[in-house]
Amino acid sequence: MHAPPTLESPAETQETIDWHQWLERWDVQQTGYLPDREARFTAMLDVLEVLLPDTFVALDLACGPGAISQRLLTRFPQARCIAVDLDPVLLTMGQSVLGTMGGRLRWVEADLTTPAWLSHLGEAHVDAVLSTTALHWLPAEHLVRVYRELGQLVRPGGVVLNGDHLKFEPSMASFQQVADAVKTRLQEDAFTRRGIEDWAGWWQALRAEAALAELFAERERRFAWRQTDSHRPIFALHEAALRDAGFREVGVIWQRMDNRVLMAVR
Ligand SMILES: C[S@@+](CC[C@H](N)C(=O)[O-])C[C@H]1O[C@@H](n2cnc3c(N)ncnc32)[C@H](O)[C@@H]1O
Repeated sequence: MHAPPTLESPAETQETIDWHQWLERWDVQQTGYLPDREARFTAMLDVLEVLLPDTFVALDLACGPGAISQRLLTRFPQARCIAVDLDPVLLTMGQSVLGTMGGRLRWVEADLTTPAWLSHLGEAHVDAVLSTTALHWLPAEHLVRVYRELGQLVRPGGVVLNGDHLKFEPSMASFQQVADAVKTRLQEDAFTRRGIEDWAGWWQALRAEAALAELFAERERRFAWRQTDSHRPIFALHEAALRDAGFREVGVIWQRMDNRVLMAVR
């Protein structure tokens, strides 16, 4: 799809960039936003342990540097994972640090805002789709389409797990008010009081690596469509879209305020 400047030649950048250190910093900044990040990953993997056989294929949707894939493949030694994302910087980082995890992890560059992403997967069906802190990047019309596509991709009995901040509906304004206030307090504690690096700071620091100039230019081209202030669909829309896509059981399996893991069984 895109003219990839990188994934074919990650070795060139690996020589000068300490990707392990950047990935550690990534995990720290993400945990600044999500103090329960690891507990949420664990809850998602607990579902797979109960519902899937030992050998299964999972999709890490909008994987970034592959946090889900890394944890999933470590916990389930007979599983395989396909990690999909559009960001050439994060994909290079993930691929440089995790590699293929013994031939069980495959990295795919694809854009979820185009239906063509499915044809890049190389799998007709998967047992599970997991995503964290990512699908809120998609405008509602793309989110609904992606869920419908997952309804075809996930085999009957398979599962979708989406861990993200999923907003309360407008009639539950007090719920959202509490969730937002607690989120603000936690983030002030992390980024102001404890001095943890935030998202913007992490990207700014990485951008200073001269060897990554081309990758960053490609990243900007690929995300030119993105509006950071776009409307975030409410939880009820996620739930309805999954039911409409053919998932028979849909509900929350883990929650802290509006940070939830939405589970859908096909
Ligand atoms: C905050 S990161 C989360 C990454 C990872 N799931 C984690 O929890 O660490 C959001 C990810 O969504 C990806 N993303 C956003 N829009 C996308 C799209 N249209 N297609 C593919 N990936 C996309 C971004 O590139 C980014 O890697």
